[in-house]
Amino acid sequence: MRVLGIETSCDETGIAIYDSTQGLLGHQLYTQTAMHAMYGGVVPELASRDHVRKVLPMLIALFQQTQLSGKDLDGIAYTAGPGLIGALLVGAMLGRTLGWAWQIPTIGVHHLEGHLLAPFLEPHPPMFPFIALLVSGGHTELVKVSRLGQYEILGDTLDDAAGEAFDKTARLLGLGYPGGSALATLAEYGSPSRFHFPRPMVDRPGLDFSFSGLKTYAAHVIQTHNLDEQTKADIAYAFQAAVVETLVIKCRRALRQTGLKQLLIAGGVGANRMLRQALQAMVQSEQACVYFPRLEFCTDNGAMIAYAGCQRLLAGQQDSLAIDVNPRWSLPSLSI
Ligand code: KG4
Ligand code: ZN
Repeated sequence: MRVLGIETSCDETGIAIYDSTQGLLGHQLYTQTAMHAMYGGVVPELASRDHVRKVLPMLIALFQQTQLSGKDLDGIAYTAGPGLIGALLVGAMLGRTLGWAWQIPTIGVHHLEGHLLAPFLEPHPPMFPFIALLVSGGHTELVKVSRLGQYEILGDTLDDAAGEAFDKTARLLGLGYPGGSALATLAEYGSPSRFHFPRPMVDRPGLDFSFSGLKTYAAHVIQTHNLDEQTKADIAYAFQAAVVETLVIKCRRALRQTGLKQLLIAGGVGANRMLRQALQAMVQSEQACVYFPRLEFCTDNGAMIAYAGCQRLLAGQQDSLAIDVNPRWSLPSLSI
């Protein structure tokens, strides 16, 4: 089965074609980051309008890249939630309309299911069941994935997501938006011994996270120090080390608690080099394995939506005729 995937839930326009026997045939990605940067965050209406502008030219480019056309497709998957309602509607309208025009089934995909399944685009994917750490700008969740469509949330953030804390701290350091990756780059020059930031919630039992206190701690250090370049790098290092160690402690706890030996990392913060190295070291000591999607599929993309949609279409699911999206869609409510 060959499926077109469309991702427009936030500030990335992503489209891709996934084939269940040949794998990923091609993908196109456009990020609106530069447009939103001057506002210090995503402006929903601007995001929707930009998806409208970009998505059709990108589809044409994808068809040229893959030498395929609508008649070569067996289905269409689009992100139906969670996300910004106007942005979601662009992908839903396009997906449903093309499905109707080409007379092929369509399926609305849960954005987080897309992230959870992104490592299946790689040559050596994990096997069910496994633990997934979903770390992005909007989510910090530990999920037990028993099989396709069966997701149990083991831990969640009580306030800010890890990526959000990265972005807010980066902004206080004058690194622009979204600053997670810039903060990580700056941290490479930081001293490991100058500052020590707290590791939130690690002394309490359970698998929940909380990052707003850490962000406030960082804000206090930033306000009370002279911010020369070295100090900024030292703060970036200490902040990153605190987030990374907190995430690693909770991942280890989730593996031990469930007895599972496979850990999968998904979402934009999964691109963080220090996090990847620390998780590699942790799983080695636990005789477990960690799986990362390639960097471009850590952040939002169309390939993960094409993959997840293909699995659901193969399982016999498809949309009804109504065009609908679900901006607040809970992951555990999914089934197959
Ligand atoms: O998954 P994603 O593209 O979008 C959401 O669905 O949120 O994740 C974006 C988040 C942003 O907060 C960004 O700052 C963060 O991922 N991020 C990073 C790095 N690269 C992206 N955070 C830390 N280190 C990085 N290298
Ligand atoms: Zn995402």
